[in-house]
Amino acid sequence: MKVITSLGDFPAARGALTSPVGFVPTMGYLHEGHLSLARMARESCAAVIASIFVNPTQFAPTEDLAAYPRDLDRDLELLEAEGVDLVLAPSDNGALYPPGYDTWVDVAGLTHRLEGASRPTHFRGVATVVAKLFNIVQPQHAYFGQKDAQQALVIRRLIRDLNFPIALHLGPTIREADGLAMSSRNAYLTPEQRGAAPILRRCLDHVERLYAEGERDGDVLRRAMGEILDAEPLALPDYISVADLESLEEIASVTGKALVSLAVRVGKTRLIDNTILPPGSGLF
Ligand code: PAJ
Repeated sequence: MKVITSLGDFPAARGALTSPVGFVPTMGYLHEGHLSLARMARESCAAVIASIFVNPTQFAPTEDLAAYPRDLDRDLELLEAEGVDLVLAPSDNGALYPPGYDTWVDVAGLTHRLEGASRPTHFRGVATVVAKLFNIVQPQHAYFGQKDAQQALVIRRLIRDLNFPIALHLGPTIREADGLAMSSRNAYLTPEQRGAAPILRRCLDHVERLYAEGERDGDVLRRAMGEILDAEPLALPDYISVADLESLEEIASVTGKALVSLAVRVGKTRLIDNTILPPGSGLF
């Protein structure tokens, strides 16, 4: 496995790979969720490239950029074990964002709801860095997780609207045994908070159960999640949503596919999770 930390060295390493190339962008501190995407890429591509870059432009000034967990040596061992061929891990933010950097990719509409309502500049940072990474890496296939469902929808639109010749693939959300979706940010949780964190999955389980019993009313489903969260003093909801999969607008009644999602603060840590209705449906 080759590791490139300086952008100038990347084209030569990229040029040595056989197509089709699969790409897994990450911010590091890898877990099974990330590795499952690398495995998907390994199964269907001739070469696999992963990136590790804690992208400063997707963090608001009040967020956890400086505290975001990092362990490059461990990440590289894990990627090597998955048979990844090439890792791009820029050692310096200035390589991607030189002084005077002033070009942004804004996927309008989709990015102002849900995560975007709580984090107004977040998806501009995500779309910008992913577009830059696509240009640098030149993959034929890209792999993203359903854990960040809205991000996946934004990337799908970015690929279409900017004519990137890239096939987008989505991996299922990988969970801990108690249902908590794996996330690098879970490392922030104290043992007590970690005990409360599976409440997100319990909310989604309950909605899936209500749906199976025939409930279709958006307000009833949203309220049911709110009531479960009210009973957990350590969990503070940020948003609770049952939204249309295309527009991400809140829906009055579930008729087609819907994205059920929530963001919850447990202490200082903000956790997100989602499911698609009807249960078992894919995001796209
Ligand atoms: P990061 O949070 O490191 O996630 C990298 C990829 O792993 C994303 O596609 C994310 O959806 C996926 N992922 C995270 N947790 C997962 C889980 N439990 N199960 C399955 N997949 C999971 O998402 C980002 O980084 C950044 O925004 C990035 C796209 C790299 C741009 O900076």
